[in-house]
Amino acid sequence: MHVMKMFDLTGQVAVITGAGNGLGVELAVAMAEAGADVVCADIDMARNEATAARVQALGRRALCVPCDVTREADVAALFQSAEQAFGRVDIAFANAGIADVAPQPLHDYPTDNWNAVLAVNLQGVFYTDREALKIMVRQQRGKLINVASMWGLAGASSVAPIPAYNAAKGAVVNLTRELALEYATQNIQVNAICPGFFRTRLADGKYDDPDFVAAVTAFTPMGRVADASEIKGTALYLASAASSFTTGLMLVTDGGCMAK
Ligand SMILES: NC(=O)c1ccc[n+]([C@@H]2O[C@H](COP(=O)([O-])OP(=O)(O)OC[C@H]3O[C@@H](n4cnc5c(N)ncnc54)[C@H](O)[C@@H]3O)[C@@H](O)[C@H]2O)c1
Repeated sequence: MHVMKMFDLTGQVAVITGAGNGLGVELAVAMAEAGADVVCADIDMARNEATAARVQALGRRALCVPCDVTREADVAALFQSAEQAFGRVDIAFANAGIADVAPQPLHDYPTDNWNAVLAVNLQGVFYTDREALKIMVRQQRGKLINVASMWGLAGASSVAPIPAYNAAKGAVVNLTRELALEYATQNIQVNAICPGFFRTRLADGKYDDPDFVAAVTAFTPMGRVADASEIKGTALYLASAASSFTTGLMLVTDGGCMAK
């Protein structure tokens, strides 16, 4: 296959959770630019509709579904809607996530905050992966991509103490490896993206706080925060035939942080 053809997603269908903001918007745009129809899922329906409109403006079909990934029934309904509307799911991004509610060391860490972070960042990934895989197993085809974090690969406390976020993302990393093995013979590749610092709306506008930006810029070898759109190439590689022999990979996109 011609190398550029490997990146062509014409006729394929991608489901993206957390499509309303930040990296989710860029994932949706990347999939649509490469030719896929996109199912956008979020709790923020106004922003989710805006993402769907961007997909449609690129000439692709879009479906906009309200979905709280912490609710099992919502996630099941999301994938049922996707299959009903488009007849298939070739690509799924478990991307919806939240930052630590209030960073602090574990001995002071409130149980409610722990549960809130784990509910979205781990339980939500479980529901999303399970429903995607039900369809992909029937199809004997699929690309499942978990959006983890570089903080799934290393402790974060040199920047901020975020134990719940770290625990959830670490679990997503190892879940990705496990699923890669479980489905390796079924033409389903399961990989994760481990982003470093990308300018999004995560953590209630932390990226608008100059002190936070200065700290993470200093931590990042490339000396800058990434633009959210810089996730697009990473995402397309894992979503497309370009990664046909790649499964169980943690694709680190972090300006060099994990190389330290
Ligand atoms: N931005 C970064 O620096 C960075 C770094 C590493 C990993 N990540 C990960 O990338 C993913 C996307 O984050 P982002 O930076 O784009 O954040 P963001 O806040 O800009 O966007 C996250 C989206 O997820 C949605 N969401 C939150 N809870 C949800 C729920 N329960 N159900 C459905 N949707 C929900 C939000 O409404 C929002 O649209 C997250 O998993 C995050 O942990 C981000």
